[in-house]
Amino acid sequence: MPAISRQVISAVVEAGLQAPSGDNCQPWRFGWDETCLRVFFLADRAESVYDVRSTASWVSLGAVITNMTLASAQLGFKPIVDLFPPGEMPGVVARVRFETGPGAAEPLAHAIPARCVNRRPYRAEPLPVRIREELQSLPAFFPGTRLSWIDTEPAKGRVAALAARNDQILFENRALHDGLYRWIRWTPLEVERRRDGMPAETLELAAFERPGIRLLGSWRWARVASGLGLTRLLPYRARAIYRRSAAIALLSVQGDQREDFVRGGQVLERLWLTATRHDVAFQPITGTTFLLLRRRLVGGEGLNARHRRLLDRLDGELKQVFPECATDSPIMLFRLGLASPPSGRAPRLPLERVLDVASTAPARPPHPGGGISE
Ligand SMILES: Cc1cc2nc3c(=O)[nH]c(=O)nc-3n(C[C@H](O)[C@H](O)[C@H](O)COP(=O)(O)O)c2cc1C
Repeated sequence: MPAISRQVISAVVEAGLQAPSGDNCQPWRFGWDETCLRVFFLADRAESVYDVRSTASWVSLGAVITNMTLASAQLGFKPIVDLFPPGEMPGVVARVRFETGPGAAEPLAHAIPARCVNRRPYRAEPLPVRIREELQSLPAFFPGTRLSWIDTEPAKGRVAALAARNDQILFENRALHDGLYRWIRWTPLEVERRRDGMPAETLELAAFERPGIRLLGSWRWARVASGLGLTRLLPYRARAIYRRSAAIALLSVQGDQREDFVRGGQVLERLWLTATRHDVAFQPITGTTFLLLRRRLVGGEGLNARHRRLLDRLDGELKQVFPECATDSPIMLFRLGLASPPSGRAPRLPLERVLDVASTAPARPPHPGGGISE
């Protein structure tokens, strides 16, 4: 086994922690014991109702592994990744050992720091054919994954409407609502102090929308808005934005085990990095698919009867556009397009807070409020 310097491990983990996660909750820690690099899942940071059976977290951790793999190759190492290795302590998602590799240039590795979510409205223009074909062909290299691509009407409008329904359910279900607002950071001071969650600028709200959306952060006001029927109007805004994208695509995998979701997350990150490399804007619009998974995996627990009925209808509509949803697991529904850069970037917890050297345990236990104990 080659000797691995601390600098190499730091660079590999630094790449890993740039991965996307739902609400930017960053449900991970890393431990290096001079032989193996372990990636831990921190369940306390991933309590969202969307994250049914931790499926969204497995997707994020797949993205972490892809970033670490790309960075390792770039640095001249070949990572050997064991997923959910038996005999490990609970929480270990991956154990990574390193062999000396050819040190190949990895074009996608360069896109890791630039990759981000872009929630702006996109320009009503198609993607250049070469880029579209590169993205569409990528999942074929990963058996068991499938990418369905929608870039024409009326299907694009139908999928946009399906995805946008999430915005209604979100403001009518207290756990979903509180779960989201817990991660919005309204001030620069909060962003700096917490280094997780979503800075308000990244939500790309118009100046006139921001006070209203902030007010709806109080469940009491969300109830009033819902009573007046205003929450039923929210999907219209989202639908108009989603529909104007160059394409909406669904990545899915065969199987519904945790390894399948990690595998899906690995491919997802390659797609997102490829889009980034070509300056193509990318936004997951996937709340609805995770609510559908909740319906499928745990009977819709935590959702009221009206929302369950709505989801059953959306499930039927989704399967008409994406027949693979009858058998496969959705990993992510997302939109792509050409757009100006986003107004802000989501921060990350610093390396020293997430990497523990010479130990097999997570660096520090998570704080129940979602932050890290000081
Ligand atoms: C599994 C998963 C689901 C996500 N779902 C959504 C979503 O439905 N809407 C959205 O705007 N962003 C979504 N995101 C994007 C995250 O909010 C984003 O990755 C995080 O805030 C970090 O920002 P960054 O990707 O710009 O670094 C999702 C990310 C992941 C990994």
